[in-house]
Amino acid sequence: MQIGDTSPTILVTGGAGYIGSHTVLALLEGGYQVVVLDNLCNSSEEALRRVEALTDGAIDFVCGDVRDSAELERIFTRFEIAAVIHFAGLKAVGESVRSPLAYYQNNVEGTLSLCQAMQKAGVKKLVFSSSATVYGANAPVPYRETYPRGNSSNPYGRSKAMVEQVLEDICTADASWSVASLRYFNPIGAHPSGLIGEDPLGIPNNLMPFIAQVAVGKLPELAIFGQDYPTDDGTCIRDYLHVMDLAEGHVAALRRLSVAGIAYFNLGTGQGYSVLDIVQAFERVTGRKIAYRFAERREGDLPAFWADASKAKKDLGWSASRGLDEMMADTWKWQSKNPKGYRG
Ligand code: NAD
Ligand code: UFG
Repeated sequence: MQIGDTSPTILVTGGAGYIGSHTVLALLEGGYQVVVLDNLCNSSEEALRRVEALTDGAIDFVCGDVRDSAELERIFTRFEIAAVIHFAGLKAVGESVRSPLAYYQNNVEGTLSLCQAMQKAGVKKLVFSSSATVYGANAPVPYRETYPRGNSSNPYGRSKAMVEQVLEDICTADASWSVASLRYFNPIGAHPSGLIGEDPLGIPNNLMPFIAQVAVGKLPELAIFGQDYPTDDGTCIRDYLHVMDLAEGHVAALRRLSVAGIAYFNLGTGQGYSVLDIVQAFERVTGRKIAYRFAERREGDLPAFWADASKAKKDLGWSASRGLDEMMADTWKWQSKNPKGYRG
């Protein structure tokens, strides 16, 4: 898909969420028009208002569920949608173990109803939010797209792997579909304005928002899960990437949706950092001290993984350009300006 004289309209499911809101911003800046479908179960409409303010753009927002076929049909009738970016879903690994049905319903059933509506409307271009978790426990690092999907240890990961399989089968059955399944590594950071960012409900599951909330005085200390992993400093290694780089990766993937079939892309930097590296980088860049203690390993955590990001560079012309210091500075700008997130 190319941006021509007209601005194509993109349906963004889950567009009010963390990655979605940053991607909507990148889309508006890239000359696209955007319709967001989100049920706001883990987000706030305020994020979209702020994106509008930042871009001077207008977003068509539909508050609804991606599993609601009638709502989807109304959207595809009302707007001339050129392609869909599908973020909507649940993402907390621990919660998925306790509530598997909710995960399969939102993530798998949600994608099925979306694809059905797309097929009916003749819209067959899709960018899907997948995850590095689909490589499973035994893949060697760095992860490459050619590796088979492994066995994920939790329903969240399995829901992503299932959806990839469904999308692959749809593309095999009908050559007019074009799908990019983007396997994200660990997105962190925020838009440099500090106006939009990650706003988890309750106590954060993920490292970066937890650190940011310790820094702002909302939480007393960070528990570092495990100090005896087979890494240089004993803490786990991940491939952290700036959420604006990730957002731009979606725009790059959208542009490639003229190629038939499904393609998988790792979106990461290709560089791993340990938990202690992240704590130290945050302290250095922000001048805030982070109180931490070591705790037991968290079940299901893998010692170390990062991306081979060369395919995205070659085929999408995309690579992450923002470094760790920028990720830390932007996380802190968002958190310090919005200590209570969008509810402040
Ligand atoms: P998020 O929770 O901030 O965004 C998800 C959005 O989807 C929210 O706005 C939520 O309200 C909406 N939503 C959920 N279920 C819905 C439904 N049934 N109908 C309509 N809207 C619904 O999460 P995020 O971090 O922005 O993640 C976006 C996508 O990327 C998710 O699919 C997630 O699994 C995937 N992903 C995230 C990460 C990460 O570390 N954040 C890593 C890999 C993959
Ligand atoms: N960690 C802590 N303390 C915390 C939170 C995290 O020590 O309070 C550690 C974890 O043990 C892990 C690292 O920080 O070693 C990163 O943990 P996150 O929870 O931030 O991220 P994960 O790598 O576990 O998972 C994230 C997303 C998943 C996605 C995966 C792969 O949450 O959805 O990246 O991309 F599947």
